[in-house]
Amino acid sequence: MAKQALWSGRFENEADESTFRFTSSLDVDSALAFYDVMGSLAHVRMLKKQKIIPAKDADEIINGLIRIVKKMEDGDFNVDESLEDIHTNIEFKLTEMIGPVGGKLHTGRSRNDQVATDLKMYLRDIILEAVIDIDTLATSLLRIAEEHGDTIMPGFTHMQHAQPVTLAQHMLAHVFRLSRDADRFIDAFDRMNRCPLGSAALAGTTYPIDRKMTSDALAFKSPTQNSMDSVASRDNVSETLFCASMTALDMSSICEELILWSSQEFGFIEMADAYTTGSSIMPQKKNPDVAELIRGRTGTVVGNLVSMMMTMKGLPLSYNRDLQEDKEPVMNSMVIISDSANMLSKVVSTMKVNKEAMQKAAEKGFINATDLADYLVVKGIPFREAHSIVGESVRYCIEKGKTLEELTLEEYKKFSGSIKKDVYDVISPKACVERRISYGGTSSGSTDMQITEAIGAIMERDSKIRLETQLIEKCWDDLLKDV
Ligand code: ARG
Repeated sequence: MAKQALWSGRFENEADESTFRFTSSLDVDSALAFYDVMGSLAHVRMLKKQKIIPAKDADEIINGLIRIVKKMEDGDFNVDESLEDIHTNIEFKLTEMIGPVGGKLHTGRSRNDQVATDLKMYLRDIILEAVIDIDTLATSLLRIAEEHGDTIMPGFTHMQHAQPVTLAQHMLAHVFRLSRDADRFIDAFDRMNRCPLGSAALAGTTYPIDRKMTSDALAFKSPTQNSMDSVASRDNVSETLFCASMTALDMSSICEELILWSSQEFGFIEMADAYTTGSSIMPQKKNPDVAELIRGRTGTVVGNLVSMMMTMKGLPLSYNRDLQEDKEPVMNSMVIISDSANMLSKVVSTMKVNKEAMQKAAEKGFINATDLADYLVVKGIPFREAHSIVGESVRYCIEKGKTLEELTLEEYKKFSGSIKKDVYDVISPKACVERRISYGGTSSGSTDMQITEAIGAIMERDSKIRLETQLIEKCWDDLLKDV
């Protein structure tokens, strides 16, 4: 049977065992244990300074909480399954260790503001970790871009050969997507970085608490502004889940391409043995399972976002127990994101690029047709007419089994008198790429600039992460100081 619940006083009879089991959140919120103690340490130090509880009692609580952290570090903190959540477990453990004075810890707070605060502290840390992992992946893609500024490959639209690009340009497209994903996480971090502690159950408290002090002590930017909003809102969780979903989609897109590119039909890349698997029946197989699972888990990540938003739909203010369902989806998604980013980074940094296959593919599909049209425009022909001249030339090539570069000047003359010898200078795939000098285009000058910009963004995030991590760690050190 359950130990006394925190709220047992009002009840004549105990809740049924099944009710305890059904309402427990312990398997999920144990992950918040460390943050919960940090929140309690900040709270009790504030109660002491504000003389809300006697200094002597506060000191006993502080020392007890510090001992609990040591126990956790030593793997010596066992949760009691019969206590409904991690907050209850920690408070019970404290009281077991230091006696009834432990009961003074919960003065002027509620589990409602406590859990909102704990979850934010947890999210801050895993967001910073996720950004590091995303930037590790972005860096692996950047390495490929740096190496392949002159590797020509077909650029696709509608999965049809469109115009030649370089592998650098293609990789950088993914890098900038991931860079925005990482920035989005940082934005979510900054937006959620206000402290709900002290909002109590929903309406604030009659004690002369100092919310600025607890907020500072827990490395938050400031306290939240409204007590009801503080305990009722989980947009920070939904936003984190959206950031995760967007990142998952972007990684899935990379995976889809790598899977395609490693097929016999494309042969653009070969994945390293270390990050592929074999078949139990077909001895020749080398399967891109890692990439496939990253793509596949995107479904779970997006599902978690939808699940959280549906939990929130129509909830009235303020705290409702439905909110307990907030942790599992976000914890699950963030593990998937970090694992996937790290695995994909390994796949990318160990894969072999088949430059020749890419280059060869770029010669097919009249990928330089736009360049031929642009050439005619420079010669004074209106673009519409140029478009049709090139269309006819392409049709002719298809009939003759030739490429546009292989047509002789004689043949070109049939389509337009304006085509001269210099046409060959602009329609080679290399020329097509190098002449695309517009900002953000595929020329090597442009990709070099893009690389510099992408590295700058990664460095900026890196210093932000260092700063925030230092700030958080300094707070933990201060809170863990003996009294
Ligand atoms: N386990 C609860 C949660 O995760 C803690 C808050 C409980 N508050 C309450 N009023 N029952 O949301």
